[in-house]
Amino acid sequence: MLTDTVTKENLNKLVLKFYAKVVKDDLIGPIFIDILGKDLKGDVWKTHIELLTNFWAAIALGETNYGGSPFAPHIQFKERLSVEAFDRWMKLFFETLNTIYEPQVAQQFLARAKNIAGNFIRNLRLA
Ligand code: HEM
Repeated sequence: MLTDTVTKENLNKLVLKFYAKVVKDDLIGPIFIDILGKDLKGDVWKTHIELLTNFWAAIALGETNYGGSPFAPHIQFKERLSVEAFDRWMKLFFETLNTIYEPQVAQQFLARAKNIAGNFIRNLRLA
């Protein structure tokens, strides 16, 4: 059942489902696998999933446990990124949002993600 209430639990589910899709993707899957490995249940992915859950919790719930730097790590694999790769990221994210949240909540996340992706694309000089 879709929900219109964002909680830490459903954010964690969102992030888990999203990356399960991402690693299977022909275009962006290999980038993630080269950096974080294949084992979504291993320690490296566990850390990433927790970090990204906190990232979205900071955005959606105003939590303060994300102290990272969202843009910085993407610079190290800049040459593997493209507008097409970001479009694919957005598509998979939106598909996942729609399996958890009511459309109006999914749209709010999508708008935030589009905004951040747009900043990344500009800062990486991809467009
Ligand atoms: C094709 C597009 C993207 C790819 C391939 C990608 C890939 C990655 C990878 C491999 C990492 C882990 C880096 C590391 O641990 O060394 C990472 C971290 C991260 N990504 Fe992305 N990403 C993409 C787009 C996005 C977008 C659009 C967002 C936000 C809406 C985002 C948010 C983050 C955040 C918050 C981190 C953690 C940063 C930190 O260390 O605090 N990424 N990404």
